[in-house]
Amino acid sequence: MKKYLVIGNPIEHSLSPKLHNFWMKKNKIDGIYTKQKINENEINKIISEIKNESISGINITVPFKKIVIPFLDKLTPIADKAQSVNMIFKENNKLVGHNTDVEGFELAIKHFGYDIKNKKVFIIGAGGVVPSIILALRKMNIAKIILSNRTKKKSLELKSTYNELEIIDWGDTPDFDIVINATSLGLNQNDIIPIDYKNFKDQKLFYDVIYNPKITNFLNKAKQEGHLIENGKMMFIYQAHQSFTLWHKKMPQIDEETIRLLEQ
Ligand code: ATR
Repeated sequence: MKKYLVIGNPIEHSLSPKLHNFWMKKNKIDGIYTKQKINENEINKIISEIKNESISGINITVPFKKIVIPFLDKLTPIADKAQSVNMIFKENNKLVGHNTDVEGFELAIKHFGYDIKNKKVFIIGAGGVVPSIILALRKMNIAKIILSNRTKKKSLELKSTYNELEIIDWGDTPDFDIVINATSLGLNQNDIIPIDYKNFKDQKLFYDVIYNPKITNFLNKAKQEGHLIENGKMMFIYQAHQSFTLWHKKMPQIDEETIRLLEQ
C-alpha cells in the first residue's frame, strides 16, 4: 500500500487526507493518506522517507512551503518561480518540489465565474502562499495589487521580487475590488483582521485562503455588510486535484459529492 502525507504546523485543520483518501477509493488505488504535525527539525527525516520510498508523496502546508526547498534535488519551473513548494514526488531518483497553488488559485477564481480583469486586488499577508497568488493574478490581467503585512519587512522583500506591488501599512484599508486574506489569521475563532468594513461604497469580494473553518470572522463580517464572500475550498480542491493527478496518473472528478465531502 502506497503512503502519502501532508505535513504542516498547525495541521489539525487540513482536509487533505479526507479528499485524497476519497479520491483513492473512487479510483481503486491501494493507498493511504495521513496528516502529520511536524517541527522544522523533522523535515530532513520525512524527506528521507520519500527518498527511500517508504512514503510515495508529500503535500506541504504552512509554514514549510519555502523551508523544504533546500532539502530537494530539483524544483519544477513554477515552484522555482514562486519559491514555494506544496507537493513533493520522486522522479528518476530525484526529489522534485512542485507548486500546485498557482493553478489552484487561478482555477478557483474561474470556478466562481468572477470577472477579475482590471480589478484592484488587496492582499493581506506575506507568507508562503502569497507568491503563488501573485503569480496567478499576474496571468489574469488585474489592474493592481496592494499588499499589507503585519511585518512590513516581509512585504518589502516581496516587492523586491514583484515590483508591481503597492505596499501599505498594517491596519490601513485601501481602495480595492477584491480583498484576499492570505494570513493564518482566521484559523482560530477569535482572530480578527484589521479592516474597516463600514468604509466601502459598493459591493466587494472578500476571499479567504482558509477553508476550515468554513466562514472565518473576516468572511462573516463581510457577509453581514452585504459583500460577496468565498473561502479557500475550491483553491484547496484544485491544488489537491493536480497533486493527485501527478502522483497517480489518474484524474479524479470534482463533482458535487467531492465538494460536499468538505462541507462536513
Ligand atoms: P511564514 O511566516 O512561514 O511565511 P505563513 O503561515 O505562510 O508562515 O504566513 C503567515 C502569515 O500570516 C504572515 O503574513 C503572518 O504575518 P507576519 O509576516 O507578520 O508574521 C501572518 N500572521 C500570522 N499570525 C498573525 C497575527 N497574529 N497578526 C497578523 N498577521 C499574522
